[in-house]
Amino acid sequence: MRERIKQYLADIDLFTAMSKEELEEFRIKFSGKKGILNELFGEFKNVSADDRREMGVLLNELKGRIQDKIEEIRTRLEEGAVESVSDQDLTLPVNFRDAGSRHPLTIIRNRMLDIFSRIGFTVAEGPEVEEDWYNFSALNFAPEHPARDMQDTFFIEKDPDVVLRTHTSSVQVRIMENNRPPIRMVFPGRVYRNEAISARAHCFFHQVEGLYVDKDVSFADLRQTLLYFAKEMFSADTRIRLRPSYFPFTEPSAEMDISCNLCGGEGCSFCKYTGWVEILGCGMVNPNVLRNCGIDPDVYTGFAFGMGIERITNLVFNVKDLRMFSENDVRFLRQFESAWQ
Ligand code: DAH
Repeated sequence: MRERIKQYLADIDLFTAMSKEELEEFRIKFSGKKGILNELFGEFKNVSADDRREMGVLLNELKGRIQDKIEEIRTRLEEGAVESVSDQDLTLPVNFRDAGSRHPLTIIRNRMLDIFSRIGFTVAEGPEVEEDWYNFSALNFAPEHPARDMQDTFFIEKDPDVVLRTHTSSVQVRIMENNRPPIRMVFPGRVYRNEAISARAHCFFHQVEGLYVDKDVSFADLRQTLLYFAKEMFSADTRIRLRPSYFPFTEPSAEMDISCNLCGGEGCSFCKYTGWVEILGCGMVNPNVLRNCGIDPDVYTGFAFGMGIERITNLVFNVKDLRMFSENDVRFLRQFESAWQ
């Protein structure tokens, strides 16, 4: 009897219960009507006078330890305390931190496309390896235009020339050749230029091009579209200004500045104390370009614009070094995890 009691004491010490049901089983096994305690007390009657004292003490200890154990587990279950791994709720979702995040350029591109789609622009893409016609000739570049120079353009083949497109304006031509007005579209994509890589220049970058061709499209429509874009992209109090410029494919042409989004136009080192930062080129589609694409410039007019996604991303996220975008350092990329997607 002595050995049995000692074994029970050891078992009770190790016992733990995960649920009220398990605890109840334990209670019935030891303190129930037909439980171990009652059984032992029954046997106690037959214990010899010599052993009675010792067995009495042991039995009382066993009874106390059973009560303490039941009390201890009941309190723990009621508090809902987690004690071990197997005690945790394995149906909870796991931590997805390492699942990756969108690239900052993707975040900004999606945002840009979303803004234009809200005013009726649809999205199209064109090839990165492009014929001279689409990248230059149809866009009214003169044969001796410096942009065709080996300095700027990566040539894939010569005569007839095949190049890595230097801008997304090439997609304008492909779309106008195959669609009749009204055309209201944006073209995102990667472009290439033969430039030395530095913090401010790269041999490839990304652009979003816009094109709207219809009857009676005016410069006022262009200005209002770009003002809407600037306010949506940066902030409602953003102002724009258009400066005369030159592009072979637009006439008249302009470059657009926005009021500096860091100082609000007051003047700071970022905007070189001018209060303005340049973000894009634009203009009315040159009649020669419309004609090259089979659209009658006496019936239709259009506007176009093109901007660098890196440039806009710089302004929104304050990334100063262009090389960051292609190095794929996860410490850089992770900073955009919680940015709007
Ligand atoms: N293609 C020009 C560039 O790469 C940007 C541009 C300027 C696009 C004026 C246009 C435009 O559509 O009208 O710098």
